[in-house]
Amino acid sequence: MRKLFLSTLSLVVGTIGLHAQETGLKSSVKNVEAKVDSVLNIMTLEEKVGQMIQYNGSWDLTGPASETGNKQKEDRLKKGLVGSMLNVLSVEATEKAQKLNMENSRIKIPIIFGYDVIHGYKTIFPVPLAETASWDMEAAEESARIAALESVAEGVNWTFSPMIDVSRDARWGRIMEGSGEDPYLTSQVAVAKVNGYQGDDLADPNTIAATAKHFAGYGFAEGGKDYNTVNIGKNELHNVILPPFKAAADAGAATFMNAFNTLDGIPATGSESLQRELLKTEWGWDGFIVSDWGSISEMIPHGFARDKVHAAEIAVKAGSDMDMEGGAYQAGLEQLVAEGKVDEKLINDAVRRILRVKFMMGLFDDPYRYINAEVKNEVPYEQHLETARDIARKSIVLLKNENDLLPMSASAGKIAVIGPLANDKDTPIGNWRAQGEANSAVSVVEGLKNQLPDSEIVYSEGVKLGMGERSFLMPLEINKTDTTGVGEAVMNARDAEVVVMVLGEDAFQSGEGRSQANIGFAGLQLELLKKVYAVNKNIVLVLINGRPMELSWSAEHIPAIVEAWQLGSESGNAIADVLLGKYNPSGKLPVSFPRAVGQEPLYYNYKNTGRPYSEQHVTYSHYTDIENGPLFPFGYGLSYTTFDYAKPTLSSATLTSGETATLSVAVTNSGDTKGKEVVQLYLRDMVASTSRPVKELKGFELIELEAGETKTVEFEISEEMLQFYTANEKWEAEEGEFRLMVGTNSEELQTVTLNFQK
Ligand code: BGC
Repeated sequence: MRKLFLSTLSLVVGTIGLHAQETGLKSSVKNVEAKVDSVLNIMTLEEKVGQMIQYNGSWDLTGPASETGNKQKEDRLKKGLVGSMLNVLSVEATEKAQKLNMENSRIKIPIIFGYDVIHGYKTIFPVPLAETASWDMEAAEESARIAALESVAEGVNWTFSPMIDVSRDARWGRIMEGSGEDPYLTSQVAVAKVNGYQGDDLADPNTIAATAKHFAGYGFAEGGKDYNTVNIGKNELHNVILPPFKAAADAGAATFMNAFNTLDGIPATGSESLQRELLKTEWGWDGFIVSDWGSISEMIPHGFARDKVHAAEIAVKAGSDMDMEGGAYQAGLEQLVAEGKVDEKLINDAVRRILRVKFMMGLFDDPYRYINAEVKNEVPYEQHLETARDIARKSIVLLKNENDLLPMSASAGKIAVIGPLANDKDTPIGNWRAQGEANSAVSVVEGLKNQLPDSEIVYSEGVKLGMGERSFLMPLEINKTDTTGVGEAVMNARDAEVVVMVLGEDAFQSGEGRSQANIGFAGLQLELLKKVYAVNKNIVLVLINGRPMELSWSAEHIPAIVEAWQLGSESGNAIADVLLGKYNPSGKLPVSFPRAVGQEPLYYNYKNTGRPYSEQHVTYSHYTDIENGPLFPFGYGLSYTTFDYAKPTLSSATLTSGETATLSVAVTNSGDTKGKEVVQLYLRDMVASTSRPVKELKGFELIELEAGETKTVEFEISEEMLQFYTANEKWEAEEGEFRLMVGTNSEELQTVTLNFQK
């Protein structure tokens, strides 16, 4: 791919990454700070405020200038009073907007074009929760790199991704957009994504700027209800929510996005302690913070600001640098400075950060650097689909496989493929689909037919799931009454050798604003499943969904269950690869699956409580009406082969500050098929200055083993690994006993003990 841009690249001189090494932002552009100052010094206050404003490209920029509605916005573009636009999506449109700005404005500062490129631009990859289930960080980086290439082919040079909000609540619709419940795993993904989008040089026209979002706490919305209040203390904030953001900042994420929620009463967008003090000062991060959509003005309904001007004052003091489509900075900043309520130094700080990123992206050398009509013709979309298929199959998690029902034999007799999602070409594209075309995914029916052209594959929908028109903003209507297809489905199932039931969630059941109080099968799906089960028990249940679901009945009765999430463009082909054994499933859950929605928030890294367990009486921490614990735990996933773990050994039972110890464990593929295993390392700090989780993921390694092969996996144990945010409000390791646990998922673990001393 790099050759595509050779002509443009040859314009770039200098070596990579010299500036701002300390903060991680990497660019081959030299002397950035001096250049930033030289521009800042000649800017008027109005122009500075303009840089802090981002407009939605809600009008046709390629058409004639409109006299109504957007005229004012277009005039501001011409005056150089817009720093960025979002949702401007083509080479023609970005070029037009950039030209309006560059050819008419006094100051000629290039604008940057942002977009939600969440799991692919045109080629759609698995939704982030699914992709995390691959535990394959090379895959996570690769899909981001491809998304970047396809974005720049349309003039987009900044993505609002990765979303690295740790979330433990399956009710929250946006859980599909993140990496699940674990801060360590989410941090690894954060780094992979930043590297994938940004490469090692922000000025490389093959790359786009990344955004770590939503800073911070958004994934902890009370009751799993989107935008809701977040009530957590410092311990949880620093130990669970912030580590992925620190990792993204260290990896050099060019931008951060703040969040809609309040955190302990303060809107994140207005939080000086989070943005100015922690991120910018303590962590020394040099990029800029964009608000979430209108989140500055939303401080008014939060009851935190009187009006837009007041909201602008709070946000700029807190360190929010750019106002996304909120109108607050435009309404208030100039006036606030004139009245002496906001020190111009704060404006300068924000603008300096925005200019820094623009310089580092090479935009001052060439404002049209990322706008090149030729590129699109050269993007290898076909090749990207192959990668999408490979990443999709790596993301599939085998949850149950009784009597080795899977893999299915290619010579199986009649296969009945049943369910509302079985031939659905749209839902696998998922929510936040960027320019992924509607109905463009390979369905399960198509995937199976592609690979079994001579088999008898009979499809029946059974029941409909989502009905009517569906879109990002519209509420989804679920079919609760129409059962007309059930009879045919049952008939087809009756004499089938095997039934592949494809059930789950519509694409628009998860995503922003899609929180649910129920997380079982919506509509008539469970009823359909039970009717089919009554005539044929040989069922492989394939789940297509964006969140952990409540699957108790299925887990008890259905012999084989495959978690296939929303896998993107190549979904059906990837699913067929796994069902037919062409790919041996290797995914592991990045979130706990509950037995009942009432267990939510459910997560493996909980704290022990003072009353963890008792067989004698009821006064301990549990639910009395269900079996406690998850249905499928974090880190869980089966394979068509089996792995045996030998006893782990530790090079030394004591670790002293500054030294390292090695934990080794030999893993053997004890089955007769080649397979991949994610070897997982957890630890528990037994006694500490604050109560610590019963286990926390601290390392993992994805290995591939031939049948019969053994590999020894080694984890280096260092003081850093033992650190947490202590009662002293510092990251440090405390002396004492640690249990190190290693194994195949968060529940099947073997333990060794380590003593740490300073
Ligand atoms: C979402 C952000 C997104 C933004 C721009 C907001 O509603 O919360 O994650 O980046 O819209 O589309």
